[in-house]
Amino acid sequence: MTKALVLYHSQEYGNTAAMAKAIADGLREAGCEVDSFNTNDGRFDVNQFPQYDCVAFGSPDYYSYIAGGLKTFMDDHYIADVRDGLDGLREKPYILFYSHGGGGRVKDAMERIFRRVGTLIGEPVGSRGKPDEQILQTCRALGEQLAKSIP
Ligand SMILES: Cc1cc2nc3c(=O)[nH]c(=O)nc-3n(C[C@H](O)[C@H](O)[C@H](O)COP(=O)(O)O)c2cc1C
Repeated sequence: MTKALVLYHSQEYGNTAAMAKAIADGLREAGCEVDSFNTNDGRFDVNQFPQYDCVAFGSPDYYSYIAGGLKTFMDDHYIADVRDGLDGLREKPYILFYSHGGGGRVKDAMERIFRRVGTLIGEPVGSRGKPDEQILQTCRALGEQLAKSIP
């Protein structure tokens, strides 16, 4: 069974968490086994990352950049990859989602930083504030698209 990880940060209102849940629903509907992790709850162990076939990364816009918890993951990812030579950290299909308060420039930062991980699938989905039903539907569809990108 395809294993998917939804790795996100949500802290202020739960906006990004609501999107993460919809994406996880879409992945499950398409037959994936899904683990979800909010980096506001702790540090995700990068050694667990290689077991996943695909990933969804989500962040609120914090000062036009990704939230610190998710940045810490990417710092750990770089070190595990470049210094320690851990296998299975790269060449994964992934999707991006974000929430913001009206700026939304985090999208550009996400497109840049997560490139290390593999291949971006579909278009990043964003929400200004609380995601409405249409955005949640787009999240579910993006989750399904990610699942279907696995051969
Ligand atoms: C420390 C901090 C910095 C923020 N900086 C920005 C910003 O630069 N641009 C923006 O559009 N929203 C900004 N916001 C608003 C959040 O991105 C927005 O409220 C988001 O939906 C919160 O997601 P969450 O409820 O999942 O934590 C900021 C919020 C916080 C707490």
